[in-house]
Amino acid sequence: MAKADPPPTRQTPNSPQEDSPLLYRRMLPYLKPLKGRFILGIALGVAAAGFNAVLLMSFQVIFSLVLRGQSTTLGKTIDLPFGIHFNLADSLGLAADTPVGLTGVIIACAFIPVLLFTNGFLEYLNKYCLAWVGNRMLFAIRNDVFRSILRQSPGFFATSRAGELMQTVFNQSRVAQTNAVQLVQLVTNRPLTIIVILATLFSQYPFFTGMSLFVFPLCIWPIIALGRRVKKSGKNEELETGAMMTSMHESFTGIRLVKAYAREDYEVARFERANAAMSHNSIRWQRAMEMVGPIVESVASLGIAAGLIYWWYKDWEADKFITVIFTLTRIYPPAKELSKVSLLLQKTTYAVNNVVGLLDRKPDIQDPPKAPKLPRIEGSILFDNVSFSYRKPDGTLLETPAVSDIQLALEPGRFYAFVGPSGAGKSTLFSMLLRFYDPDQGRVLMDGIDIRTVTQDSLRDNIGIVSQDTFLFHDTIRENIRYGRLNATEEEIVAAAKKSHAHDFIMAQSKGYDTVVGDAGCNLSGGQKQRLSIARAVLRNAPILLLDEATSALDTETERIIQDAIHQLSEGKTVIAIAHRLSTIMEADQIVVMREGRIQAVGTHAELLATSELYQNLNALQFKET
Ligand SMILES: Nc1ncnc2c1ncn2[C@@H]1O[C@H](COP(=O)(O)OP(=O)(O)OP(=O)(O)O)[C@@H](O)[C@H]1O
Ligand SMILES: [Mg+2]
Repeated sequence: MAKADPPPTRQTPNSPQEDSPLLYRRMLPYLKPLKGRFILGIALGVAAAGFNAVLLMSFQVIFSLVLRGQSTTLGKTIDLPFGIHFNLADSLGLAADTPVGLTGVIIACAFIPVLLFTNGFLEYLNKYCLAWVGNRMLFAIRNDVFRSILRQSPGFFATSRAGELMQTVFNQSRVAQTNAVQLVQLVTNRPLTIIVILATLFSQYPFFTGMSLFVFPLCIWPIIALGRRVKKSGKNEELETGAMMTSMHESFTGIRLVKAYAREDYEVARFERANAAMSHNSIRWQRAMEMVGPIVESVASLGIAAGLIYWWYKDWEADKFITVIFTLTRIYPPAKELSKVSLLLQKTTYAVNNVVGLLDRKPDIQDPPKAPKLPRIEGSILFDNVSFSYRKPDGTLLETPAVSDIQLALEPGRFYAFVGPSGAGKSTLFSMLLRFYDPDQGRVLMDGIDIRTVTQDSLRDNIGIVSQDTFLFHDTIRENIRYGRLNATEEEIVAAAKKSHAHDFIMAQSKGYDTVVGDAGCNLSGGQKQRLSIARAVLRNAPILLLDEATSALDTETERIIQDAIHQLSEGKTVIAIAHRLSTIMEADQIVVMREGRIQAVGTHAELLATSELYQNLNALQFKET
């Protein structure tokens, strides 16, 4: 017997690393295609910051023309920052004693809206460009996170909650994106704005500016303390949102159970708990965010007060004073925003971690590099000494293996029934065939090819499945059948429906094949759903057919129809049925009896009745005559 290849190493569930530079590097590829717009956005931010110098100098000229009353002349030299001396009369070529006059004042004041508009417009363009880049990034990130989740193997979904995954795809990728963009905007524009304003002011009033700013570092301490207090709140808010989504998702998908057990209040309470915890954390976090502004302002006002005293002491003129106050008030908004950055980061690091964790998570089961496709096979199957144990969520093995030492050869074109008590490992063998899990020991061969060496898609193209719980999408009956083979034609779909005895009841629906499943008037019965599921498998026309028979009994007539549909479907295929009904078992060429993960006996119904005690018991207790 050939030695099996070692199974690919398995991953433990991802623990997202808390390495921020790495996270930003991980976001960078999403930025690359948007480089142009991004650089434009930053350039506009720099321009907006630089424009502050123009703004302040212009205001100084305007103030000095207007605020000294009607005696002002154009000939007076105005001292501007950076050692510039500006004389209007000289630059306009007028006599030094030309009065400003009403016209002059109106012209000067008309510049105020123009200047402020230009400033606002630059800031708007800066924000718009970066928001545009951000939204494009979000679009790509969301698609990739969703794709990455869907690529995971069933083992991953066994331990994840759908609601939390939805939360990551929808919310956390948004938070991650907003954070990245906002941070870029804050970091490129705000410090520069502050530096430009300070430099302008400092070049004219070094001592005064120094004194007003002396108090700035005092703001830092309370902000750091605040940040520490709410460190967990931002993260917890995201966690609780996940719990809330989970609660919603489970209540809606399990609504029949909720109703049947009258557990509405219970579910509402569960939702309310998550909602309350989320609101609580959200309020804590927002309180901290909103506290930053007033703290910065109050501390800064101390600086202004000190500056004023100095001003009085120096006996300076009022127009200069207004310029200075105007300038100082323009520093605070960017300073406030900048001090929120660390709080913002705390909340979003968690989100980025989750998103990147999911983006980078390698599926437990992967195609080997350059794996060939499995061609359409004849349908022979060999379980070669297969053993498998499920994993606990932490990645360690469960003590009792689900299947052990399975040695079983199935010939093409024959019908096999797997029987055995609940938990015997029947469904697990199906999972091995579909490569939902890889065996820990041994291998599974199809037409002599180890299924781990070919692509998963091509393997599954060779398998049709009719499971006990038929899942139908909220879509037309036609599309639900077409799911078996996406390029099937209308004729093929109808032929498949006819073959599975579904055509007649489909035509009896209000819109025939266009009827939307789940809409009013089209809630199908269990037997009808099964026939749609059989039609799907007929359309797929794969050489291997897996039947997971429903345990629930159907009425004799439906049973006969479904039995006949399955009979038609199985022609020329290797069929493995997890059988609960005598009629299915009687159809089988060979019956495989399983218990506690091992094969107990193989044979025909008559042989097993004669030789296997377990089979006799099953026959007496489990197989339903219909
Ligand atoms: N996802 C899982 N994680 C952990 N253990 C599992 C998982 N699925 C199945 N098991 C365990 O593996 C064993 C075999 O389960 P399996 O589903 O193959 O049984 P089965 O023969 O299909 O039973 P049934 O007739 O009730 O469907 C059982 O002990 C079961 O508890
Ligand atoms: Mg099962």
